[in-house]
Amino acid sequence: MIAVNPFDLVIFGATGDLAARKLLPALYHRHCAGQLPQQAQIIALGRNDLSSADYIALVSDKSQKYITEQYFDAGQWQSFIERIAYLKLDAGSDADFARLALHLQDAQERIRIFYLSTSPKLFAGICERLASSHLVNAHSRVVLEKPLGHDLESADLINSCVESVFSEQQIYRIDHYLGKEAVQNLMALRFGNSIFEPLWRHGQIRDVQITLAEKIGVEGRGEFYDSTGALRDMVQNHLMQLLCIVAMEPPISMDADNVRDEKLKVIRSLEPYTPATVASDTVRGQYRASRVDGVDLPGYLEEAGIDSTSHTETFVALKAKINNWRWSGVPFYLRTGKCMHEHVTEVVISFYSLPHSIYPAVEKCESVNRLYIQLQPHERVELHLMAKQAGDKNILKPVKLDLDLTGSNERHLDAYERLLMDVVRGNQTLFVRRDELNAAWKWVAPIMQSWAASSEAPEPYAAGSSGPDRAGDLIEADSVGWIEDC
Ligand code: BG6
Repeated sequence: MIAVNPFDLVIFGATGDLAARKLLPALYHRHCAGQLPQQAQIIALGRNDLSSADYIALVSDKSQKYITEQYFDAGQWQSFIERIAYLKLDAGSDADFARLALHLQDAQERIRIFYLSTSPKLFAGICERLASSHLVNAHSRVVLEKPLGHDLESADLINSCVESVFSEQQIYRIDHYLGKEAVQNLMALRFGNSIFEPLWRHGQIRDVQITLAEKIGVEGRGEFYDSTGALRDMVQNHLMQLLCIVAMEPPISMDADNVRDEKLKVIRSLEPYTPATVASDTVRGQYRASRVDGVDLPGYLEEAGIDSTSHTETFVALKAKINNWRWSGVPFYLRTGKCMHEHVTEVVISFYSLPHSIYPAVEKCESVNRLYIQLQPHERVELHLMAKQAGDKNILKPVKLDLDLTGSNERHLDAYERLLMDVVRGNQTLFVRRDELNAAWKWVAPIMQSWAASSEAPEPYAAGSSGPDRAGDLIEADSVGWIEDC
């Protein structure tokens, strides 16, 4: 465990979902691990007029639900919440910022982190007021939650405003997928071993599939989701980052800029979509009411906060092409959806099958070697190989080689634990640089434009299913199928 210096973490939008569900449980775990110095404090900001005790009562139940029972200790929780102070703050009120400044006054030399977990529309105004209230100095950092803007222009505008107050070295654009243990494992697998490198390329790999399927729907975030959609909520950031980690060249070191330079090159090598390829290589869907195992699941248009004529997509499938020496000709199939039949995040790398098999055909079993990297619900890495079945016949069967990269049963850090401590330590490796973000927005722009210009509604799919039929057609057109249930 790497010790961190004392810090103030100032959370804007602290009464929102993210603080209770992710930030506070993550900080609680770091508190229990003994990583938080005694003087580290959390200043929760929200528009409601609450006392600190009211705030803690408001978030406690929810936060505790996200702490696995076996790791919850009432005594530790009690000592943890003593670090939290709540202040009422309206993002447009100079007087409220002055009160915040008063609260933080004694600690000019401390690391001060401003975590902006509000609508991105407020980011610029908050940064300006932080500056005019003299709250920003060389020890300050700002964390920006995604999605940052809704397109390249809006993201650029927000970034320019933030950069007029904070330098790029002080800005931490968070994509929590980069903090997941399995993503670190994927990098370790690629860059800590020699055996995969010669195979990690066209000619060896037939295709790459990245799936990010959720069982949950919009979960009370209707208003936000309806103006965002799956492309902006998941593809432009989480799926893009996973693709980058799979496809990037080995960086010359783990330094933040070396890693980010390589990711940027991948995004820049992605083949831009045209209206024709948006039509042929992308699919958008929207879930409809259905009944699964006797349970009625509502459709997207019936969810609270959703416009009943909305064309917002809750499912996206894409075929992406990377035009560089390593990946030319290797399709990357990406898909994400809400209200799917299972909750799974995984990367599946399929290698070419044998040019000629000397074994008799093995029924119901495709002899393709695959590497599975599952991030959720379980973190696991498996290599699928063919082996001989015991007995006198030469029959092959698929076997799964469990590549347990951690080799221990220790609790894995949640992404936010790792990322929050990285911010305190000033390590930007797992955060998104502005040029990376811009390149990602640029790549999805033609898709957004084509969809916005079309009067066609997203293809319906039943809630609790594996998505719209056209997602199957998209991949089957290349004589490949989505890999399910690995
Ligand atoms: C968030 C999205 O960034 O990621 C949510 O806004 C989504 O819509 C969530 O549910 C998924 O994160 P995880 O870590 O639960 O897979």
